[in-house]
Formats: sequence, structure tokens, C-alpha cells
Amino acid sequence: MPTSLDPLVPVDEFPVAQTCTYINAANVTPMYRPAAAAITDWYRDVAEHGSNHFDEEAEATVFDELHLQAARLFNASPTDIAAGSSTTELLSSLAWAVMPGAETNVVSTDVSFPASVYPWRRVANHTGCEIRLAHARGDTVDPDRVRDLVDDNTAVVALSHVEFRSGQRWDLAAFADIAHQHGALLVVDATQSAGAVPIDAPGMGVDAVAAGAYKWLCGPFGVAVMYLAPHLATRLEPGLVGFRSQKDIWDIRTDPPDYPEDASRFEFSTMAYGLAGGFAKSIGFLVDTDIDRIFAHNQVLADHLIDGLTAMGAEVTSPRNADERSAIVTARFPGRDISDVAQHLKQAGVMVALRGPVIRFSPHLYNRMADVERALEVISGMD
Ligand SMILES: Cc1ncc(COP(=O)(O)O)c(C=O)c1O
Repeated sequence: MPTSLDPLVPVDEFPVAQTCTYINAANVTPMYRPAAAAITDWYRDVAEHGSNHFDEEAEATVFDELHLQAARLFNASPTDIAAGSSTTELLSSLAWAVMPGAETNVVSTDVSFPASVYPWRRVANHTGCEIRLAHARGDTVDPDRVRDLVDDNTAVVALSHVEFRSGQRWDLAAFADIAHQHGALLVVDATQSAGAVPIDAPGMGVDAVAAGAYKWLCGPFGVAVMYLAPHLATRLEPGLVGFRSQKDIWDIRTDPPDYPEDASRFEFSTMAYGLAGGFAKSIGFLVDTDIDRIFAHNQVLADHLIDGLTAMGAEVTSPRNADERSAIVTARFPGRDISDVAQHLKQAGVMVALRGPVIRFSPHLYNRMADVERALEVISGMD
């Protein structure tokens, strides 16, 4: 186990990593500095020049660079990518598009972030589809419990690739197989994994995967991307439809839209366009850094956290086995008030998250071993 490890990238690209000990990527990441600059520049330009610069052509092609970079992230084609304002928005539009009917079911877990469940619940209220949630034991779910709920009436298996509360990581290739054996789709929320865990969406057989920018992808709030397998992108009618739903967005009319023959049919209206360019920059930076390297870097930090927490008598509640773990490490502190631990860390400038009865640590590429050591020192020095 190395006792020192430098950040994977220059920390001056991540200002907050210089002003405190930031181990909280699962909540919000400090934005990659060039991404923030691109966004600011875009807004200044529109504020000062309006459509003189951001003209019809610029608006029609505003997502091109984001499509390109997100395609690299998911090992897909730019035509497989849709941009939106949030994971929940994209998955909601998808849920209405798939619209699982009465007699069918959607399978997820009872500890997933709502983005994997609520969009389907809302459609189920309308169609009578059954929502089946695998129950967690503690904070994690035995994969067999999900497998056992899938049957020939399953329309969708909806999983959060890495669970927000426990860091449990699902084997997407295995669950794509299970879903497909029953004629179901695998729909994935990758908000807690994209940027930190390699995702080869076509290679894994995933049918749809969406991720927001502001966590591991080091981008802003207010923008997200979704990969859609081509077999869906060309046949689904999106749940949300607007002027951008036309092949030619400037062919503005009210008769039924002529949808693009690709995933961009899920882009439907104006949004905070300036965020798209910033998000493209942060994704490009992470992919250039190499997501496999980021994954390996974060695992070394997580290992050190796990060892240090265990040594001080904390109960690590996130999975430790290689197949299920991620960079999220969660722990209980028997005999201590958990909010005291959280408060103490915060006062010492160590930023982590309090999630129910656990503290959630989530190191990323700008962290070094000394950050982990600082967190451990602060906790063990509490008495
Ligand atoms: C797994 C997961 N999905 C999605 C989100 C957020 O989704 P949205 O930005 O659509 O609210 C979070 C936020 O914590 C999350 O942990």
C-alpha cells in the first residue's frame, strides 16, 4: 500500500482542492477550471452580443461538441447521445417514451437514487405497470435479489451504476444479459460513476445510460447527457417534445414533429445552452486523463480510507469486494454521534457528506494520499 500518492492532475485546475480537503465528489465536484471559464465566456458573449454571435446556426449546433465528448466517454457514436438539463429529465422523457404497460413490470432497488425509480413510478401510475424494488440488507442489495425479480414481463431493469448511499457498483454487462434474456431493457443512471468508472455502453450491452455533470464529471449543475442504443434512438417517441424535436430545429411548426433519426430526438427545447460547452470541456479532460487511470487512482485512495477507518474501529459499510466497490467509502462510527463526526471534519476543513447514519467519503482525481490521511487524523484526534 503506497503511503504517498500525488493528485492525478494539476490541482490548480480544481481551485477548491487547494483551499480545503475536498473528499466529496459524490455530492458536488469542484468544476474543472476551463469548463467554468467556457461557461462564463459563453454567458458574457450572449449578454454582450445576443444573437449577433449566438445565431441560428450556433443554436442548431450547440450540442455538437458535447455529443462528441460524451460519445468518447461512453465509447459510442455522437449520434447516440442526447443532451438535457438533468439526469432525471432525460430519464423521465425516456420512461414516457418506453411507457411500460399494464401486465409489465420495472425492476430496481429500494435504495437507488429516485432518478432510477420515480420516472417509472410516474408512468406506472398512468399505465398500471408494476414497480418491483429489490430490498436492501443494510445499505446494499444482493444482486440475486434483483435477478430474482426479473421475469418475462419485465420491461425495464433500472439501475444506478454506483449507488449514492453505499457506493455499491452494479455489473452492467451481467445485468444487460439478464434483462435481454427476458426481452427487457437495461436503463442506467451513471451520475455516481461516469467520469470515475469506465463505461463502454455498447460493449456492456446497456440500452440507455444517463449522467449529470456536477459530480464525478467535474462539470456544472444544469446539464446532463444520455446514451441511447441505436435500436431505441430511432424508434422511441420522447416523453418531452418541443421545437428542437424537429430534424431541422428552425422548421418551426405545429404538425407532428419529424424526429431526428438519432438520440438527439430527446433534445426538445432551449436550455442553459452555455453549460453544454463547459460540460464538453470537463468530459474531454477526464477522457484524455483516462478513466481507467482515474478509477485506479481513486481505488488507491479508497483502500487507504478503508484501512484507516477499520483500524480506528469504524464500521465500513460500503462494499469492499473488487466486483462491487467504487470510490465511495461509507462508514459508521460506533459509540460516536455521527453528526459530531461530520461537524468536526467540516470545522477542520475536511469536506465529506453526512448521509443518514453514515459519513460518505468520495475522493477523486484531484485528491492525494495526504487528503485521506488528514481526514483520518481529524477523526482519530476527536477524543
Ligand atoms: C445516483 C444519482 N442519480 C442522480 C442524481 C441527481 O439527479 P438530478 O440531477 O436529475 O436530480 C444523484 C444526486 O445525488 C445521484 O446520486
